[in-house]
Order: sequence, then structure tokens, then C-alpha cells
Amino acid sequence: MADDHWDPGRIDALRQRLLGWYATSRRDLPWRWSRDPYAIWVSEIMLQQTRVAVVVERYQAFLQRFPTLLALALAPEQEVLAMWSGLGYYRRARMLHKAARFVADRLKGNLPATAEELRVLPGIGAYTASAIASIAHGERVAVVDGNVERVLCRVEGWDAESRKGGAALKRRVDALAAQILDPLRPGDFNQALMELGATVCLPRKPLCLTCPLAADCTTRGEHKTAPRPRMLSREIARALCVRKAFDAPGAQKKDGAEVLLERRPVELTVMPGMWELPALREATVPERELLMTVRHAIMQVNYYVRVCSVGEKDVDALTVVGGERRWMLLAEAAQTALTGLTRKVLARAHLLPAPLDGSLGGALARRPGKDVA
Ligand code: ADE
Repeated sequence: MADDHWDPGRIDALRQRLLGWYATSRRDLPWRWSRDPYAIWVSEIMLQQTRVAVVVERYQAFLQRFPTLLALALAPEQEVLAMWSGLGYYRRARMLHKAARFVADRLKGNLPATAEELRVLPGIGAYTASAIASIAHGERVAVVDGNVERVLCRVEGWDAESRKGGAALKRRVDALAAQILDPLRPGDFNQALMELGATVCLPRKPLCLTCPLAADCTTRGEHKTAPRPRMLSREIARALCVRKAFDAPGAQKKDGAEVLLERRPVELTVMPGMWELPALREATVPERELLMTVRHAIMQVNYYVRVCSVGEKDVDALTVVGGERRWMLLAEAAQTALTGLTRKVLARAHLLPAPLDGSLGGALARRPGKDVA
């Protein structure tokens, strides 16, 4: 194992520069105003695979609906998934909910305070446990996410992109992060390194001229860049089928419109149990019947989705049944666990409110939403 011992003067200088930069340059994000371990836990889980702009909007709505761990533990899973809509990677929401129930049932509602104890909970790995413990409780544990790893590898000139490093490189990075962690402000220090990676030490075009660590950085702009993952393309077609609710048997005149939705089978590994628009039999929709085209990314696949407006009487002939179907009032759909694509289409058709984060985009939005179980 290489000796990566830093002398105390170098560590002190790095801490000062980094924390000074963080004090003036950090983004004003809602979870940074909270010391509540539950709120920090929610933010860290949301941030794991989702853009900050999307998290900001969903985080506040989520905490309004589930302001405490107990409120989350008592909620039905479908409601938790509905509030997670737009964030994607729904397994995170299921695990968060499961862990909240575990804490409420077995730990009398007390979320553990140390990283070691937090790691026992479902869905909490080393990274999340250290983030919660250091930010909420000031525990002296280093957080190493992808951003921190990139920053430290560049500072030291370690080749982070090559697969050769593997576990040994990871151990080296962990050891360095622990060595330089500021023991007086571990939460701020961890967040500052993550923030630097997210806003300055960018994967492809690092902004070295504004970097507080540039003087001490071995790489300083000369770096290998990871190749962009190759995106695959798929074409699919969906039916948007809407009727006035008061045409339905037993409906009241005051009821609004209903949309036909289908529930994904619960045995699926991707987005089980979530509601979506029925699939059209033919993926090639004639241009004149097309309502809109939406691009939606799910992991490495760009879906080009052709959405066709279908009348109630034609639904059976034009669509394939993939699960339980229901006509749902739009007001209910808004509170239901819809897939991100479904919410996007309904918002574009002005049937549901548009998300505030701009993730709706145009037909060819650059950063489409994510939607993965
Ligand atoms: N990424 C994930 N969590 C973060 C945090 N607390 N601060 C900055 N970036 C983060």
C-alpha cells in the first residue's frame, strides 16, 4: 500500500481553502438549512441518482407530505411512490419507507445517530450513513461519493478512470478522505468536497481557474475523461384515452375528466405496481393521429414515445392489455404512483400540473427525466 501521508501544513491549508470556498460559493439548497437527521436522510437518498434541480422541487413536497419519520412510516407505499414520482429509481423510495417502518416499529421511532448503526437500516450504505452522521451529528466520518473520489484522484494524480485501480484505489481514496477530514466541521467538510466535485471539478470540463484547490492539485486540468455511456434508442407508442367523468356510470356532474391507466404487474423488477398509459398495438402511429412525441431516458435507453389520442370505444382494438386497467379521475391520478413518463405526457397534455423544475422540456429536451425502479 502506498504511503499517502500528508504533512499537517498541507492538510490545514486544504481545509482552509476548501471551507472558505464553501462558505462563499455553495449552492443554497433547502436541506442545507436543516439539521434534522430525517430530512438529511431523505435528501441524501434523493440525491443519489437524480439531478439537484429535480431533487429541490420533490424534496420540499415530500417533506410537506411526510414531515417526520413517523408520518412516512404510517403512509401507504403507493402514496410514498406517488410522492417520489419524477425522481426515478423507485427502489430507493421503497427502501426508505421500509427503513422508516423498521425504525418506528423496532427502535421506538429513534433514528440511530452513528454511521455504524445507521448502516444496519435497509437502503443505507456506507456513503449515506456517513453523510447523515457527519452532517446531522458532527460524527468524524468521511463521505466518499463519485464526486469526492474524482476530486481526490485529481489532487493526487491517481488514474481514476482506469479499471486497474479497483478496490486498492478505493481503499486509498477512503484513507485519504479520512486523513484530511476536518475533525471540527466534518459535515461541512464532506459537503464542501462533494460540492466542489459537483460544481467545479466536473468530470469533463473541470473549472480549474476557479478551483480553491488548484495550487495543490497534481492534475490541474490535465485529466483523462471517462467516455460518455452510449445511449440506445427505442421507439414505443402509448394511448392517451380521456373521457368526461360524468359520462361514467354513477358519476356526478361536478366530476372532472378521467384517464385510462394500467398498473404494471407487481412481479416486474422495473417500476412494479406503478401506473402508466396503455401500450398501442402498433408502434408506428400515423402522423395525422399523433398527439405528441416525447423523449424519455431510462438508464442507458432513450425512449422515443409516440402518443396517440384514442377514443374510449377504440381502446380495446388499438391497445394491448399488460395489467389491471382503471379509469382514474385526474385529481386522483395526480396523487397516484405514476411512472415518470406518464406524468410527463399528462403534464404536456395539460391534464396534470407541470413539474416546477423544468424537467418537462421540449420534445427533444437535453436532460430527460429518469424513471427506473
Ligand atoms: N451530493 C449528495 N449529497 C450532497 C451534499 N450533502 N452536498 C453536496 N453534494 C451532495
